[in-house]
Amino acid sequence: MEYEKIMDMAKRRGIFWQSAGIYKPVAGFYDYGHIGTLIKRRWENLWREFFLGLGDNYYEIQASVIMPEDVFRASGHLESFLDPVAKCGKCGNVERADHILEDLLKESFEGMAKAELTALIRKHNIKCEKCKGSLGDVEDRNLMFPVSIGTGKDKKSAYLTGETAQGAYVNFKLMFDVLRRRLPMGLAIVGKAFRHEISPRQALIRMREFTQAELQIFFDSDAINKHPRFDEVGSYKLRLHTTKNKSAGVEEMSCHDAVKGLHLPEFYVYHLARVQQFYLDVLAVPEKAFRLRELSAEEKAFYNKYHWDIQLNMESVGGWKEVGGVHYRADHDLKGHGEASGTAMAVNIEGKSVLPHVIEISMGVDRNVYALVELSYREEKERDVLAFPRKVAPFDAGIFPLVNKDGLEEKAREIYEFLRGEGFQVFFDSSGSIGRRYRRIDEVGVPAGITIDYDTLKDNDVTLRDRDSMKQVRVKIKDMPAVLRRFLGGESVSAFGEFIN
Ligand code: GAP
Repeated sequence: MEYEKIMDMAKRRGIFWQSAGIYKPVAGFYDYGHIGTLIKRRWENLWREFFLGLGDNYYEIQASVIMPEDVFRASGHLESFLDPVAKCGKCGNVERADHILEDLLKESFEGMAKAELTALIRKHNIKCEKCKGSLGDVEDRNLMFPVSIGTGKDKKSAYLTGETAQGAYVNFKLMFDVLRRRLPMGLAIVGKAFRHEISPRQALIRMREFTQAELQIFFDSDAINKHPRFDEVGSYKLRLHTTKNKSAGVEEMSCHDAVKGLHLPEFYVYHLARVQQFYLDVLAVPEKAFRLRELSAEEKAFYNKYHWDIQLNMESVGGWKEVGGVHYRADHDLKGHGEASGTAMAVNIEGKSVLPHVIEISMGVDRNVYALVELSYREEKERDVLAFPRKVAPFDAGIFPLVNKDGLEEKAREIYEFLRGEGFQVFFDSSGSIGRRYRRIDEVGVPAGITIDYDTLKDNDVTLRDRDSMKQVRVKIKDMPAVLRRFLGGESVSAFGEFIN
């Protein structure tokens, strides 16, 4: 699938596009249309349902996106949140050094030291892409967006947060006290993050303002080698790309074997398994498009003891791309904030003083939406379909009167209100031929079409059409809520009656 085709389709169908497009847009900012907003919201809600369900002490909170400088000094963002850049000596254009090399040599240089990047740029005689001038030595650039608050002598320096995670760490102590003083405790935030990316690109893949869904799991590190529900996943096969066996692409390994063979703690492997299940079972991502990739020592953040990326294979942006990660951040964050703020972060668990460690499950919502769009797009002979998994589709069903006369529209509106009242996300469309209306819902991935025709007025049956097979069955109006629920839960349309033409 070509990148340009996806971008064009996303714009025409109300999914996403570059922000402020009526002016000269600035790279790295994107807006969502009505369909994109619905898909994003559904993705986020599925994420909440799944990940908050992993523990009985896991909750969602919201935190400010602007926080004082002290927060980011303590977190290490001001000192270490850096990208390597190369500046053109002639025109002053600045590019990310690892991306310049990646584009040329088609491999990842993320995490490589500045001196090595400079040496590679020299070796391959790479020039400025804008003016062909010579590039200077690779330097660090900080990614944080500074903002100032107040005026005059009250003026304070602050930053837009670079990750939602910090909001959970600064609220840890308060939430621990407000909740039942138990570990593990999970704090989730679905919210905005901002990074001054030097070369934003590939639309929702590398943005300057984006949405993250992150769960911080605070736990006693003495318990890291056990998880009470590990048996549920012990023989579950993980799809892994390890640093030792890079040429393998993907290796399948049970969770038991990952603990033994890769020397990973149970508590960590348990969460790798749950993340994979979220992708394969909830989001219905094809198995072959998913893997968990181990990061090398050079690639991972200095505070991450274990760090595996969640990757999806997306042809339009060059293959395997990181859409999230599972990070064992140890006590780095609570220790840093405790020391800098003077708030004791250690907690008392049954008489023992514990400075909790953190496993973070982090996902970029926008990257995941882009992946969903690419992985769901099918070009068929007679139509283009976004075959979204039924639970992520923007609407559950479209409601169509066959014609706009003889009481059919009124009957269709009645059914529309009935299904809305039953909690379904439905929309009404009475314009154009029924064939065109079906094509329109196929194009934005709505899984079901419900048509009201002259027979409906006599027998109270409607036609239910399945987007993927295009098969149709007749269903009683009164049965529609139960049928639609089962259909959205994954049942085949054939379960509800004989196919009609
Ligand atoms: N709290 C950990 C953290 O922020 P990260 O790997 O820097 O880790 C997590 O980011 C996820 O956020 C990434 O896997 C990606 O999905 C998303 N993300 C990061 N930078 C992004 C950007 N510039 N544009 C879009 N998404 C981004």
